[in-house]
Amino acid sequence: MSIIEKAVKRLDQLKSASGEGGFEAVQAPEPLVVPEEKPLAKKPGAPEPVVPPPVRAQPKSVRIDLVRLAARGLVTPDQPRSAIAEEFRLIKRPLLANAVLEGPAAVENGNLIMISSALPGEGKTFNAINLAISMAMELDYTVLLVDADVSRPSVLRELDVPLQPGLMDVLAGEVDDLSEVLLKTNIDKLSILPAGMPHQRATELLASEGMTQLLEQMAHRYADRIIVFDSPPLLVTTESRVLAAHMGQVVLVVEAERTTHAHVRQALAAIEPCPIRMMVLNKSRDRSVGGYYGYGYGYGYGNAPEGRPEAA
Ligand SMILES: Nc1ncnc2c1ncn2[C@@H]1O[C@H](COP(=O)(O)OP(=O)(O)O)[C@@H](O)[C@H]1O
Ligand SMILES: [Mg+2]
Repeated sequence: MSIIEKAVKRLDQLKSASGEGGFEAVQAPEPLVVPEEKPLAKKPGAPEPVVPPPVRAQPKSVRIDLVRLAARGLVTPDQPRSAIAEEFRLIKRPLLANAVLEGPAAVENGNLIMISSALPGEGKTFNAINLAISMAMELDYTVLLVDADVSRPSVLRELDVPLQPGLMDVLAGEVDDLSEVLLKTNIDKLSILPAGMPHQRATELLASEGMTQLLEQMAHRYADRIIVFDSPPLLVTTESRVLAAHMGQVVLVVEAERTTHAHVRQALAAIEPCPIRMMVLNKSRDRSVGGYYGYGYGYGYGNAPEGRPEAA
């Protein structure tokens, strides 16, 4: 099958996967096709033909509407002093510090940070997006936000960006290289890896050996990047436990006044293999915890290595 036929087939797959929800197919990355043309015989005295340079596929870019984001109470780079930006400054600081530790204190895969929760709806996506933007606002960090909640992907929807191929397409072997589906954004140091097209075997693929290899590749190939993973809820599916085992750090988002102690304990047990675990109390109405329009955060550490603060 030619490259063009493959691209057409891929577009058809994307369209048929879209259904009513509107999985918006985007143009497949333009393949570098150099048609084999027979050179025309050059007339004597005719000017040299101008040969255009080969066109290389550029990384795709998407535009996030920052005004809309700020209006919805999210962190935006143009409002670094907003209350929400201040809250995420507190949350990101220890994560960034752990990510760059060197020598004997270095955290393995410390640049891989998973945002998780016991149950759906606790605020994983909200926290993952805010953290990723907040980290990208730092001078020294480039950030990749990965939508790994492949059964209920919502990063692109929350950012009002049309759905595009991503993680699932890489794992299913539809895309040769990760770099083909990474999206640059108008937030300078923030890129996104979307969840990609809906796939029947999405959860299996996420827990597959291929995903393990991809994570290793990400941790090392993009060692200078912080990689933030939005992920499936721990107590509903099993694959996010597998993911957690490969992460250097996991943030457990706990919805205040809803998630029971028993659920929190089970979720903490599920992320036990991860060296650094941090808890964020989300949607707290308790002003003493801090907070913004009734929402707030508390944070603490589990299994903190010596010299780091213990659980709050
Ligand atoms: N701290 C917060 N402040 C305001 N809204 C929040 C907060 N955390 C979550 N939400 C909202 O709650 C809903 C569920 O959050 P979401 O991040 O989608 O949960 P999850 O990804 O865990 O399923 C979303 O509408 C989100 O915008
Ligand atoms: Mg979510």
